Amino acid sequence: MAERTLVTSALPYANGAVHLGHAVEYIQTDIYVRFLRSCGQDVVYFCADDTHGTPIEINAAKQGIPPEQFVARFHDEHQRDFRDFDIRFDYFHSTNSPENRHYAELIYGRLKDAGDIDRRDIEQTYCEKDKRFLPDRFIRGTCPNCKSADQYGDACEKCGKTYNPTDLIDPKCALCGTPPVRRNSVHLFFKLSRHADFLQEVLKRPGFIHPGLATQLQGFFEKGLADWDISRDGPYFGFAIPGETDKFFYVWLDAPIGYIATTEKWAKESGRFPDALAYWGKDAPTRIVHFIGKDIVYFHALFWPAVLKVAGFHIPNEIKVHGHLTVNGEKMSKSRGTMVAARDYLDLLDPSYLRYFYAANLGAGVEDLDLNLKDFRLRVNGELVNNVGNLANRALSLLAGPLEKKLAPGRAEGAGRKLVEDALARVPEVREAFEKLEYRNAIKVITEIASTANAFLQTAAPWALVKKDAEAARADLSDAADVAYLVGALLAPVTPRVSEKLFAQLGAEPLTFQALATAKYPLLDRTRPLGTPEPLLPRLEEERVNAIIKVPAGTPAAEPAKAGGKDKKTEKKPVEAKSPEGAPAVPTTQASPGAGAAEGAPAADIEYADFAKVVLKAGRIVAAEKVKGADKLLKLDVDLGEGSPRTIVSGIAEAYAPEALAGRRVVVVANLKPRKLKGIESRGMLLTAGSGGKDLSLLEPGDVPPGAEVK
Ligand code: 2FM
Ligand code: ZN
Repeated sequence: MAERTLVTSALPYANGAVHLGHAVEYIQTDIYVRFLRSCGQDVVYFCADDTHGTPIEINAAKQGIPPEQFVARFHDEHQRDFRDFDIRFDYFHSTNSPENRHYAELIYGRLKDAGDIDRRDIEQTYCEKDKRFLPDRFIRGTCPNCKSADQYGDACEKCGKTYNPTDLIDPKCALCGTPPVRRNSVHLFFKLSRHADFLQEVLKRPGFIHPGLATQLQGFFEKGLADWDISRDGPYFGFAIPGETDKFFYVWLDAPIGYIATTEKWAKESGRFPDALAYWGKDAPTRIVHFIGKDIVYFHALFWPAVLKVAGFHIPNEIKVHGHLTVNGEKMSKSRGTMVAARDYLDLLDPSYLRYFYAANLGAGVEDLDLNLKDFRLRVNGELVNNVGNLANRALSLLAGPLEKKLAPGRAEGAGRKLVEDALARVPEVREAFEKLEYRNAIKVITEIASTANAFLQTAAPWALVKKDAEAARADLSDAADVAYLVGALLAPVTPRVSEKLFAQLGAEPLTFQALATAKYPLLDRTRPLGTPEPLLPRLEEERVNAIIKVPAGTPAAEPAKAGGKDKKTEKKPVEAKSPEGAPAVPTTQASPGAGAAEGAPAADIEYADFAKVVLKAGRIVAAEKVKGADKLLKLDVDLGEGSPRTIVSGIAEAYAPEALAGRRVVVVANLKPRKLKGIESRGMLLTAGSGGKDLSLLEPGDVPPGAEVK
């Protein structure tokens, strides 16, 4: 039987708006799902609201409404936000659903039958005034380690130390300020410790999780895996535990079960399968892939597989972990307005811009992604609006105007045919990049394909040719339109609405990765009439982009962070990972063996005056060619707005093909003493990022004229 893939994103809490930090994950997952689908795979994508737990129960009580009503509001709001970001779940359900209750009770019953549930009398923090046990986050006090005031009950945000709430100095209830007392209660524990061998085996399965994270998780086994407290005392918003009085499943027990419940709901409503077991049955022919943030690795990689194994369900095959979002280099903050609600973004900007920018920056690792608003604007304008948009517009406007919407038949040979065939030859690179979640590599290749086609048009100059030889111009433009069609197909998982527009303008059917696997020149049906060209996307305006950050009225944090120094609230905290009580947090820095202290000796500080001696300028590559006898070098002509271009020899030949470079904007060190390389005098240096060889990216100044100063 053919394999079916089930993909999930983490379930958002029904306790607040979806923001651009959440969007990293949903966009990353949605791109993956669209890509698989375009390859012809059978894939379903599920998500749901995570509705249970103390914070939701308390917030609902504060608003004087039942928690069911409180979470229902977010259900509609979240769905609208996802839809408008072009995130297409096959089903978006809720953990507060009959399906979830059913599976939570079923799974708990199986854990119990297997002898995996233990009853233990534990002492906990209790507020006599509020008449409730207090989760760690609802206790504030002075850190026993660094003595910082007003810290949470589980970890100090100042020094990063984790501890028990009982260790806090001068603890207080966060709700009413009363000093809490200690009280005993019987809790139910899942005997996670019994499954250490199984979990270690799972962590070693190929593709299960990023190897760096698997290594970090080993730390839990070395310390001894702790059993897991899966019950909470009332008042609590959650499912009552069968056979117990006033005890509820801890939210993190039933949250991932929500993945199964959503599958069940979809299976029944769509009529596709009788129940969720078509995917979640132990031996179902399925591949289950969870996308999550780095803060919830513990739950998905240890607790969840163990629960599923004992209960006789399918173990997830892959857990894809991403980093967090920073905005302008800093952790998101409500008071600074950088925790931008999805809706606030959507009110101002098309989702395609953000989807493109996230894709252009996402790799398969867990490093954080920075939404620097200036980079965002320049990159999107330079690559999506100018490069891709111009290609479509230049190819189509002449064809649709003087050439009456008619394409030329494919040609037997020549530069135009070669252009299309060379572009097609790069499809496997893009495919592999999407498969491996190296979206930024996919974007790099796609923009190179578009640049090459733009350079082709620049040379062919059909706008001049059309007056002398209309058919020759038609043939060149038709080949450029073929490349635009290909670019539309390759970008479709990232910016589906841009691609749809492009396909309509080309008068063509959507082109899939599946079709591309066997596609040949010419790509477009050259007998069909074109549609009507119009700009694909307007340029991002600085004012509009900056307006997505709205500092809430009455917050003192309106002043920008000082250069160099970080404000207290936004300083990177050593503790970011959510971990179950008693278990140490998973360190959240990326595990990259070798990228450590040994290599990273800090460079000596320099004075600003030293830096100011370097003249950096924006340039435009006019021409590029290989340097004979030097595999790594390219000879470039770079326009720096000086009248005639400069010759610069640059060691980027392994990372860039010369034909992909014409028209590309670069940053140049303009006042380096000229020096000879392989007999050629080089007058300047291009700035790149990366470790060298193939791993080099040219820095781009954005859409500024040649010669503009870079500071
Ligand atoms: O961390 C969170 O936002 C959780 N609501 C994610 C739950 S994912 C899954 F396990 F349900
Ligand atoms: Zn209290």
